[in-house]
Amino acid sequence: MPKQDSKAGKAARKPAARRPAASKTAGPATGPAPITKARLIDHLNDDLAKEFQALIQYVQHAAVITGPQYDAIRVELAVHSNEEHAHAISLSEQIDFLGGTPGVDVATVQVSKDSKVMLEQDLEGELDAIARYKARIAQAEQLQEYGLRRALEDILMVEEEHARDLQNALDL
Ligand SMILES: [Fe+2]
Ligand SMILES: [Fe+2]
Repeated sequence: MPKQDSKAGKAARKPAARRPAASKTAGPATGPAPITKARLIDHLNDDLAKEFQALIQYVQHAAVITGPQYDAIRVELAVHSNEEHAHAISLSEQIDFLGGTPGVDVATVQVSKDSKVMLEQDLEGELDAIARYKARIAQAEQLQEYGLRRALEDILMVEEEHARDLQNALDL
């Protein structure tokens, strides 16, 4: 009978679909290590320390940068500082929401006596932030933390604006 043949066919295919359990762990790792909530909280606290750094760095640079060519960016640096403050608040809320404790560490603040070097230090920080937040968005996505992903996307957009402001001031 055709029906019996069909059942037999399905049963016969079943063993072929099995894969050796060892294949999941054997061989070199491919792709990024899977993220865990604990590891994500650690990364977010590193990001938070760099937001505190950026906040302080912009306050100092806005006060001491000199030269008429930097009049416009001097005003922008003070605005950036306020936006980094907002990022620190957002990250702290997200870390708490994930069950972590927001840190109070400050990454190393970059200073210089040379106005152009200050802007280069600020740009370096922004490019680093853009790369970090892109990675963090992917990690939030992996953990299906969609509220966090949204908060990080908002931060990323502002960091991209900061980088553009600095690139314009540096004629890059
Ligand atoms: Fe920021
Ligand atoms: Fe920024």
